[in-house]
Amino acid sequence: MSNEDHRRSNAEDMPNSGPFSEKDTAAYGDDTIHRIHQQLAREKEEPTEGFSPVPIFLLFLFGGLVFWAGIYLANGSGNFLPGAFTPDFKVGDTNKTAVAFDPLKRGERLYKNNCAACHQANGQGVAGAFPPLANSAWVTGDESRFTKILLRGLQGPIVVNGEEYNGNMPSYGENGLGWSDRDLHAILTYTRQAWDNDAPPVTEETVAAVRAEIAGKNGAWSAAELLSAHPME
Ligand code: HEC
Repeated sequence: MSNEDHRRSNAEDMPNSGPFSEKDTAAYGDDTIHRIHQQLAREKEEPTEGFSPVPIFLLFLFGGLVFWAGIYLANGSGNFLPGAFTPDFKVGDTNKTAVAFDPLKRGERLYKNNCAACHQANGQGVAGAFPPLANSAWVTGDESRFTKILLRGLQGPIVVNGEEYNGNMPSYGENGLGWSDRDLHAILTYTRQAWDNDAPPVTEETVAAVRAEIAGKNGAWSAAELLSAHPME
């Protein structure tokens, strides 16, 4: 057997080899292939090169929208001032603190962030460690006495609602941790009206006066010291 004969006989052994073997093409007649091509051509868009430009009317539409939005903001934003939408806001008022100061809201926030860790959110304190502020005469009684506690702190034995405590109450009035008269007015007023407490507010002026009165006092008060100046009601 020559080389030539050998190759031919191999090809005859594998009749289905190659991409278009006799068997495949026989399955689709010209009609079928034509129909399939028609379907494909119908369902696909003609390919084009590059991309089509944005319709010009859309450019005008967006341009118009941006222009309108600019005018809308200029007229209706109130210059982005926080108080712009409160009823008594005056046009042209550039004072950024136009929002009224609410001592109860401010006081509640100060309380949560500073006092609640010890005296608890409900003002009940912790038995044996931190005295309650709810229903405490130290809070609802003499306003100077309460103000002095916050301005210098308190230490040593104290009786609150019949229970004895002996700890350290931090000061909020001295330099460094010094709170403003306004914040002290807020925390005093809030605690005197929170929970079931029902005592009149303590004004900023009162805080300022007490601060001036005790300017020379260093260190924390003792309860006895406060009671000799302001006996329990
Ligand atoms: C680190 C814990 C702690 C923090 C914070 C604290 N206190 Fe006190 N407070 C005490 C302790 C302890 C006493 C009792 C002091 C003593 O034994 O002489 C006390 C006493 C008081 C008293 C007098 C007793 C009473 O219960 O009525 C008042 C009023 C008071 N604190 C208010 C406040 C307010 C308002 C704040 C937040 C601005 C505050 N305290 C933050 C620990 C704390």
